[in-house]
Amino acid sequence: MTTPFLSPQRRRRFSSYFVLALALLILGGVYSALAPTGYAQDAAATTADQVAKGHDLFILNCSSCHGLNAEGTTVAPDLRPEGAAAVDFQVGTGRMPLKQLGMQAKRSIPHFTQEQIDQLAAYVGSLSATSPKIPSAGQTTVRDANGQLISGVDVAKGGRIFSENCAQCHNVVGQGGALTGGMAAPELRLATDKQIWEALATAPGNMPSFMKQLNDKDKLDVIAYVTSIRSNFDKGGNPIGRLGPVPEGAVGWILGVGGLLVFCVWIGSRI
Ligand code: HEC
Ligand code: HEC
Repeated sequence: MTTPFLSPQRRRRFSSYFVLALALLILGGVYSALAPTGYAQDAAATTADQVAKGHDLFILNCSSCHGLNAEGTTVAPDLRPEGAAAVDFQVGTGRMPLKQLGMQAKRSIPHFTQEQIDQLAAYVGSLSATSPKIPSAGQTTVRDANGQLISGVDVAKGGRIFSENCAQCHNVVGQGGALTGGMAAPELRLATDKQIWEALATAPGNMPSFMKQLNDKDKLDVIAYVTSIRSNFDKGGNPIGRLGPVPEGAVGWILGVGGLLVFCVWIGSRI
C-alpha cells in the first residue's frame, strides 16, 4: 500500500494554517483599503472683488476685536503683518472668530465657507505687501494623486527636523501635549498640508515661527513626516476612541489572548 502524500491529520493542520493566513490577508487588505491617503489644495488668486467682500466680512465678524482696519486693539493683535496665510490658517481651522477672550483658540469646525475664508484672507493680505501669502500647491504638495511621495521629498529628514524642533511640544508622534500656563499644543492629525505650512510660517498662539529657520525644502520634508506619522496613529486598525493604553490593553487581552485560547482549544480538539 502506498502512503498518501499527506496524512489526514497533517492535512487538517495545514488547512488551519491556511485559514489563519487567509484571515490575516483579508484583515490586511481591509485595513489598507481604509487607511487615509494624502491631500492637495490650491491657492486662490486674489481679485478686487474678493478684497471688497472680505472687507465687509471683516467689519462684521472681526473688527470688534482686531479693529476697523485690522490694526489691532488692546484685546487682539494687529493682523497687517500676519497676512493672508495667518487668516487662512486661523479661520480655516475654526480658531477665528475667537469665541471667548482669554481662552486659547482651539481648532474646531470652520465658521465660514472656503470662499469666504479666501475673501477674508484677500482683504487682510491686501494691507501689507510683505506679509506671508497663502502657499501655492507646489510649496505644500508632498504626494502625487496615488498617495506616493514625490521624489526628492525626504520623510526621514522631516522626522529629524520634527524631533529637534516640534516634538517637545507636539510629542514625537504628533499627539500633542500640555504646555505651561494652561495652554496646549494640539495633536497634528487634522491639519492639512497647507495648514501645516501656514502654522510654520505664521506662528499661531504660543508656537514659535519657523518661516526663516526652515527653508521651502525643509517645510516639505516636515509636511511629509507629519502626514506620514498620521497613518501610524491607528496602526492596529480600530483606535478605540484613542483613549490610550489601558482600554487598548484590555481589548488586546480580551480579543487577542482570548482569541488565542479559543484557537488553542480548537486545535487541541482536532488532534
Ligand atoms: C473675540 C475677539 C476676536 C474676534 C471676534 C476675532 N479674533 Fe482673531 N484673535 C483674537 C485674539 C485674542 C488673538 C490672539 C490670540 C491667539 O493668537 O491665539 C487673535 C488672533 C488672530 C490671528 C493670529 C494673529 C497672530 O498674531 O498670529 C488671526 C490671523 C486672526 N485672529 C484673524 C481673525 C479674523 C479673520 C477674525 C474674523 C473672522 C477674527 N480674528 C475674529 C481675538 C479675536
Ligand atoms: C513651543 C511649543 C511648540 C513648538 C516647538 C511647535 N509648536 Fe506647533 N503649535 C503649538 C501650539 C501652542 C499650537 C496651537 C496654536 C494656537 O493656540 O492656536 C500649535 C499648532 C500647530 C499646528 C496646527 C494644528 C491644527 O490642527 O490646527 C501645526 C500643524 C503645528 N503646530 C506644527 C508644528 C511643527 C511642524 C513644529 C516644528 C517645526 C511645531 N509645530 C513646533 C506649539 C508648538
